[in-house]
Amino acid sequence: MRKLHLTIILFFSGIFFLQADEGMWMPSELDEVTLENMRRAGFMLSESDVYNEDQPSIHDAVLGMGPTDNPVSFFGSAAFIGESGLILTNHHLALRYIQQHSSPENNYIRDGFLAGSDEQELPANGLSVSRLVRTEDVTAIITAGFDTIPARQHNNIMNERGRELAEEYGEDGKYFVNIRSFFSGNQYFMEIYRVYNDVRLVAVPPMDLGKFGGNRDNWQWPRQSADFAILRVYHEELDMPVYPRKHLSVSTEGVHEGDFTMVFGFPGTTKQFLTSEAVRQLAEVTHHHSINIRGEKVSIMEEAMAADEDIWVKYTNLHASASNHLLRWRGEREGIHNLGLVERKQQFEQTFPEGLCEEEAASYHETLEAIKGIVTELDTLEMINAHIMEAGIGGAEFTAFVALFDRLGAMATRYAEAGRLDEGDLQREAYRLRGLTEDFFENHDLELEKEILTAMVRHYDQNIPDSYKTRAVRERLAEYDDHDAYIRDIFEGSIFASEESIYQFLDNFTVADGEVLEQDPVYQLNLGFYFVNRDLVFPERQRLRNQYGVHHKEYVRLISENSNNPVFPDANSSLRLSFGTARGYTVNGEEFTHRTYLSEVLDKHHSGIADYDLPEDYVALLEQTDNADRIPACFINDSHTTGGSSGSPVLDAHGNLVGIGFDRSSHGVVSDLEYFPDYSRNIAVDINYVLFVLDEYMGADRLLEEISFTGN
Ligand code: ARG
Ligand code: GLU
Repeated sequence: MRKLHLTIILFFSGIFFLQADEGMWMPSELDEVTLENMRRAGFMLSESDVYNEDQPSIHDAVLGMGPTDNPVSFFGSAAFIGESGLILTNHHLALRYIQQHSSPENNYIRDGFLAGSDEQELPANGLSVSRLVRTEDVTAIITAGFDTIPARQHNNIMNERGRELAEEYGEDGKYFVNIRSFFSGNQYFMEIYRVYNDVRLVAVPPMDLGKFGGNRDNWQWPRQSADFAILRVYHEELDMPVYPRKHLSVSTEGVHEGDFTMVFGFPGTTKQFLTSEAVRQLAEVTHHHSINIRGEKVSIMEEAMAADEDIWVKYTNLHASASNHLLRWRGEREGIHNLGLVERKQQFEQTFPEGLCEEEAASYHETLEAIKGIVTELDTLEMINAHIMEAGIGGAEFTAFVALFDRLGAMATRYAEAGRLDEGDLQREAYRLRGLTEDFFENHDLELEKEILTAMVRHYDQNIPDSYKTRAVRERLAEYDDHDAYIRDIFEGSIFASEESIYQFLDNFTVADGEVLEQDPVYQLNLGFYFVNRDLVFPERQRLRNQYGVHHKEYVRLISENSNNPVFPDANSSLRLSFGTARGYTVNGEEFTHRTYLSEVLDKHHSGIADYDLPEDYVALLEQTDNADRIPACFINDSHTTGGSSGSPVLDAHGNLVGIGFDRSSHGVVSDLEYFPDYSRNIAVDINYVLFVLDEYMGADRLLEEISFTGN
């Protein structure tokens, strides 16, 4: 009996009592236990090789990729691999920048791109990369005196203190200073970054190689994608490549089953501290609806893209990212279900307080109850929010485009009535919108947008209570039983009927047109989503989420402070190191080995499935390659990663680069909520595959000379 009891506890206690190889650790905060675990897994270096403020160390070679206007909200990672600013990342992360320079005539997406000289490199407009210089725990500074200051003032005070720190440590703009919350607000770190805003495309393989397997293979193992891209970082002022403090050396030894692996990058978000109730809501409410809506949107796009090359170019990146999330949601929902995550969390919630002192245990029970109440109360709002975000505001791209006209409408009506309108401002705004309209139509197709909009309105109309529709939309919709007819009619005679009609409207814009805009049924439909959100959904949802935040913070504190093992903070786009070993796995009796080979690229291609299309000359090259069954393509390892880890260098026990992470297998994507050592696998392109494509296919000799290799 006693024995049985023990087994149950061990089984369920996995959640917060660390599994081997679990965790995304802050390199600056490595503790002895974690270091020992790393050594046991095979790590051969010391702590200071990983993170060192005084000497170049691995962390200096790793970069976060972000949009220039908010550089440290990272969407991916990269690493320096040469002395002249050369960096390695993923094809799928570089895609949007390749798209900037592509057209049906000059199709770099399809054909790939290689700069023959520095001058030929193409700017990745809007991309910044950032290097973490150092980080420091500033919890005491940020939250000083909070015990006696009312909670509602905390945010403003924290922002103010953050600004002071930025002032003090930014060295007049030399550094970008960021304050990040860890453990749901229980700890704060200051991060000092060096940001680079001039990044250029150097070498990108054709999409058929980079995204080999397409959606079919996305989130799947075995995989054979050459998901890599090479860029170069420049000094903005000097127009010269950056000479990095540290760059990684490449090892071509190959990754063997059981080898130590370490993934270094900027993982985005994990939610390991969600309660059972919150996990239930995520699967049954949020994912359920988002998946239905997004699923339809993605299929509509696919059909249109297959029929028209112009649409294909315009929508490639959008479609890739929309379907990518869709597949991840599906994987996560399945994982929650198949692995019984709600029940596991419930078990944990019941057993955990046994180790707590009386006072903490009381707080624990209270907190858990409070969370349960708030989450349940949020169910309906989460359902509505999922519709607003997926079908409304974030539904058709056209919706966001129409929302840009809001300011013009307000100027011509409310501002004008209040006598606060400057005629010059009005004309400038109309002119600005003309430019935005051009931009929009350069990248979108109106007929496709209308089709998506129709489907989105159908979801919205059928699932949302009438009280969450604006009156104009509700009344109009009531006139139709068919959403196609509704959309057709409202576009008929609308300002937004065509690109030309929009220009016509803008070119002779007068104050009187403000009313015309506000009465336009397309405008009313699209803006309706924003109004409902602003007035009915956001405030109430925010109120509940703020309450939730207070209890969740306490829950996270109780758990992280009372664990017998080191606990790592949830991913939050700060620099992390994950370690583990390269190893295969088994699902439902099906065995997956840890590595794939070049010959499998050809095998898949010969299946004739469109996702495995390849350029003819590449097929010919593979056919001529004798040892294709021995050249590695991709490998998996059990290092704990998530979205944003993409582009992370995968290092061996000596800190040499052996691959680039680009995905996870769907069997383990639930690792954002709980890490399962049997299923959680990071998928990486083997550096040998990258080199094969660069050398044998793209003829990138110039680059190969720049990359530093180990041992020679
Ligand atoms: N699943 C990867 C990530 O979340 C994207 C991999 C890109 N390849 C693809 N076939 N979509 O970004
Ligand atoms: N491909 C994802 C990215 O771009 C990583 C996949 C994951 O979530 O692990 O970040």
